[in-house]
Amino acid sequence: MIGRLNHVAVAVPDLSAAVALYRDSLGAMVSEPQDHPDHGVTVAFVELPNTKIELMSPLGAMSPIQGFLDRNPSGGMHHLCYEVEDIIRARDRMREAGARILGSEEPRIGAHGKPVLFLHPKDFNGCLIELEQV
Ligand code: CO
Repeated sequence: MIGRLNHVAVAVPDLSAAVALYRDSLGAMVSEPQDHPDHGVTVAFVELPNTKIELMSPLGAMSPIQGFLDRNPSGGMHHLCYEVEDIIRARDRMREAGARILGSEEPRIGAHGKPVLFLHPKDFNGCLIELEQV
């Protein structure tokens, strides 16, 4: 069911420092940071030949990644995003398999303008999973 690894998301306490690290030290192409107030994050993408790294920092007081950064002050791997062809079929299949879907269980438009769902990390070996319809 799952296809390509769309991106790996890394939560970072200081987005400009993280952008500089990937751009200047690692020599990667990094997109301009973009604010996503509806998701409570500011995001920049590291473009790699085979996938992307999503660098995320909190935006606003109610950011959903603030708790993660409180537990991991220097940042850390936050989620893996796998591509699926049909997000509703993917959701129903995961529901039948007993996986917990976060939130209302209805797909939301994610930070890349595509429908996404998140699956509980306790059901996936400690990894928060994002499914994105492409
Ligand atoms: Co993501």
